[in-house]
Amino acid sequence: MAVQVNDLDAAPVGACCSIIYSHPLATWLIGESFHPGGLALTDELARLAELGPGKRLLDAGCGRGASTVHLAESTGCEAVGLTLESDGVERGRQLAEARGVQDRVTFVQDDIMHMDTATGIGGFDVVLMECVLSTLEQKPESLRQLYRITKPGGYIAITDVTVSGELPRQLQGSIGAALCMADARDLDEYMSMVEEAGFRVREYRSAKEAVHQLIKKIGTRLMIADAAIGLGSLVVDRSMIVEARDSLKLANKLVDDGTLGYGLIVAQRVG
Ligand SMILES: C[S@@+](CC[C@H](N)C(=O)[O-])C[C@H]1O[C@@H](n2cnc3c(N)ncnc32)[C@H](O)[C@@H]1O
Repeated sequence: MAVQVNDLDAAPVGACCSIIYSHPLATWLIGESFHPGGLALTDELARLAELGPGKRLLDAGCGRGASTVHLAESTGCEAVGLTLESDGVERGRQLAEARGVQDRVTFVQDDIMHMDTATGIGGFDVVLMECVLSTLEQKPESLRQLYRITKPGGYIAITDVTVSGELPRQLQGSIGAALCMADARDLDEYMSMVEEAGFRVREYRSAKEAVHQLIKKIGTRLMIADAAIGLGSLVVDRSMIVEARDSLKLANKLVDDGTLGYGLIVAQRVG
């Protein structure tokens, strides 16, 4: 088995989800696209936001640039990927080169709250935000920033974790933060924030089927990881696998009872 992880303990579990997702084991469990629904849901957002050739896309909180590069390739748009991590910028650039779209794709390491318009940030037809809003401490302020850099008539296209009611204590700490749940809101609250920032919601829906699919995929991979630990080809503390499986089981139950979900919002800047 090709997965070799021997420094999992070095990853600060209490840190923001983006640090967790930089870990190779997380990439192996989830894939390069760090959100439920993967690139199929990204395509749906792009279609609803009328992304196409010649249009300018900002992938705000782009992770390793999987959606940024995919959309540049599939729609012919020009894309900027914005992320907090330097390794995201590096990985994104490598991916863009590998797919031959480096002339239309740029990666910038910056914070949504302090975007430097001198670096070409601004005048976007579409702002994409997948599994990012839930993680932001300053949600309304960040949405207002994104409004400013969206062209009149342009769109903000969001998918994110939704939480209605209270999470069980096990998911309120670092595991909840790692899974983007800790400060997630319900779909109505996200929509109110988007509208208060100046956008008009054009489409919204629950996409909770995507969470079930992701949980199933991670569950299968955890079984493989467990087997690999048994064979000595994966060096990870087995208790982490057990803990992750317990959290997944709990998350599945929460999706079933409606506490946990995933939502899609596409909104337009009218003024
Ligand atoms: C869960 S990952 C999602 C990555 C990507 N959107 C995807 O779906 O594959 C969260 C991303 O949001 C980024 N992020 C979080 N807060 C941010 C901020 N204030 N400014 C810019 N990026 C931010 C992180 O750097 C990370 O890349």
